[in-house]
Amino acid sequence: MSETRVLVLVGSLRQASVNRQIAEAAATVSGDGVNVEIFGGLGDIPFYNEDLEAPAPATAQALRDAVEQADAVLFVTPEYNGTIPAVLKNAIDWISRPYGAGAIKGKASAVISSSISPYGAKWAAADVVRSLGVAGASVLEESTLSLGPVGQLFGEQHPREVADVRDQIGAVVDALVSAAGELLAA
Ligand SMILES: Cc1cc2nc3c(=O)[nH]c(=O)nc-3n(C[C@H](O)[C@H](O)[C@H](O)COP(=O)(O)O)c2cc1C
Repeated sequence: MSETRVLVLVGSLRQASVNRQIAEAAATVSGDGVNVEIFGGLGDIPFYNEDLEAPAPATAQALRDAVEQADAVLFVTPEYNGTIPAVLKNAIDWISRPYGAGAIKGKASAVISSSISPYGAKWAAADVVRSLGVAGASVLEESTLSLGPVGQLFGEQHPREVADVRDQIGAVVDALVSAAGELLAA
């Protein structure tokens, strides 16, 4: 495999999102031969609606194409009211269809969550893992990383500047790249 393409979907649309910064850190830690790209348009995708399937809205199709073209997908998310933020769940729904042939099917996937709580959005991470499993992704459940409380872990720093956190994010990306390689070789 010449270059492993990792697409990152972020569950927060907030400009100063810590989860987006974690996604940026994932791009920083990735080594040679790994291209990590954050998908920018999740907030523009309409709510999933089977009536919109043919043809899918351009924004949803762009997401599907990006996932198709990626070797692996990293989900980075906060927790909203104990579960997955709607914007990320909507993305999962779009890439899970058509049934049995969604872009996420069989794709190496991993989850990082973070929040202001010491639990680091563990419930959201677990729900993303479960939802991806139902959608047919190849989920690295054991690599799930939950970071929190973010204020204490990072303070005013960007997560990529905090060595321990950077290493933990790097380990998730490494596991994802290995899994993608194994899936492609199989
Ligand atoms: C609508 C809403 C619901 C939230 N619910 C939770 C929650 O259930 N658990 C939690 O740990 N944090 C919760 N939070 C706090 C978020 O974890 C915190 O705002 C987080 O930093 C957001 O991530 P971001 O910086 O990437 O936007 C909630 C925040 C919002 C806006």
